[in-house]
Amino acid sequence: METLLNVPQGEFQLQRLPYRKNEKLKAWDAADEYLLEHVYEQVDLTEESHVLILNDKFGALVCGLHAFNPVAISDSWLSQQGTRSNLASNDLSNKDIALNNSLDWPEQSFDLVLIKIPKTLALLEDQIIRLQGVITDNTIIIAAGMVKAMSANVWKLLEKYLGQTKPSLAKRKARLIFVEINTSLQKNIKSPYPVYYQLENTKHQICNHANVFSRDSLDIGTRFLLQHLPSNKQTRNIVDLGCGNGVVGLMLAEANPAAQLYFVDESYMAIASAKDSFTGAFPERKADFFIADGLTQFDSETVDLIVCNPPFHQQNTVGNQIATSMFKQSYRVLKKGGELRVIGNRHLGYHIDLKRLFGNCIEVAANKKFVIWQVIK
Ligand SMILES: C[S@@+](CC[C@H](N)C(=O)[O-])C[C@H]1O[C@@H](n2cnc3c(N)ncnc32)[C@H](O)[C@@H]1O
Repeated sequence: METLLNVPQGEFQLQRLPYRKNEKLKAWDAADEYLLEHVYEQVDLTEESHVLILNDKFGALVCGLHAFNPVAISDSWLSQQGTRSNLASNDLSNKDIALNNSLDWPEQSFDLVLIKIPKTLALLEDQIIRLQGVITDNTIIIAAGMVKAMSANVWKLLEKYLGQTKPSLAKRKARLIFVEINTSLQKNIKSPYPVYYQLENTKHQICNHANVFSRDSLDIGTRFLLQHLPSNKQTRNIVDLGCGNGVVGLMLAEANPAAQLYFVDESYMAIASAKDSFTGAFPERKADFFIADGLTQFDSETVDLIVCNPPFHQQNTVGNQIATSMFKQSYRVLKKGGELRVIGNRHLGYHIDLKRLFGNCIEVAANKKFVIWQVIK
């Protein structure tokens, strides 16, 4: 796979995270190239210019604009780690670059704001609303994405909160959107996020920041999983792997009052939501929250039970790779006799990987769409 990004700002070696042998995907896309070319040719920046970058995938934009010490905001831990490691492999210091998470916005104004259109429209809305604190009438705002990711709603959101938009020509299936700022549109609009819903048949309020999976109501797969959670009073250490808003871990905590719960996700908004949901439900109880690539921070053979509703995409990339990596991590982290319980769409065929790794795999429950598997180490 091509790893050399060649743009007017220079040549940069860029890798995706997590590293995979025979990676087929590049760490940047044509919209990154288009944006960097445009900024180089058309935007007057000086050493004093303040640049904000939203949703850079693996640091293509941060590396390209490194000279301006940008602030980069992302909801993805993997994106941030990827950016750090790509800066390092291009001998670029990250000392003066701020990599902030999606809930941690700086208090300063910016001359240039570059928005890579995220997959989740709600995240875009949350970010556009937060922008009101950091832009002025003179800020230049350019959004960028692949044409297929730019639904009519993307344009509507930009126009609703920021001002009129003008499209660039499409280039290699990418497009830029130029925004003419109208600050009068921004009269202290409050973000509708996080949103809460009450978990059915419980009193628990589930917190959902903008980028969280199934934000408005319980996902049908998750509902099915909740009906088939293991409850063994001996279970001590339980991991909700890819926890999202934490609803699975919450119900595991309820069924296992003596257990220690660990919530893991690579999305900052997911971890913030899970923390809020858990502390709301169990104010007296302690749990641990990990922002990480799956179980990388766990010691081997330390966990009794892992429950997982795996992601089937990483940002815009679809595939089973993350699920497979989570299964491998689970095998390492589980104690002998420990259990991994997984739900998946029937067509994803998780049982093939699970059986290969664990040497056993039982179907716990199934409906038309989903299957729940149990494997024991
Ligand atoms: C299908 S959602 C499940 C959310 C929640 N458990 C539920 O059932 O409603 C998958 C979750 O995995 C998270 N995720 C994706 N890649 C991850 C990774 N490499 N490490 C940890 N979590 C990841 C996503 O952010 C998302 O919250």
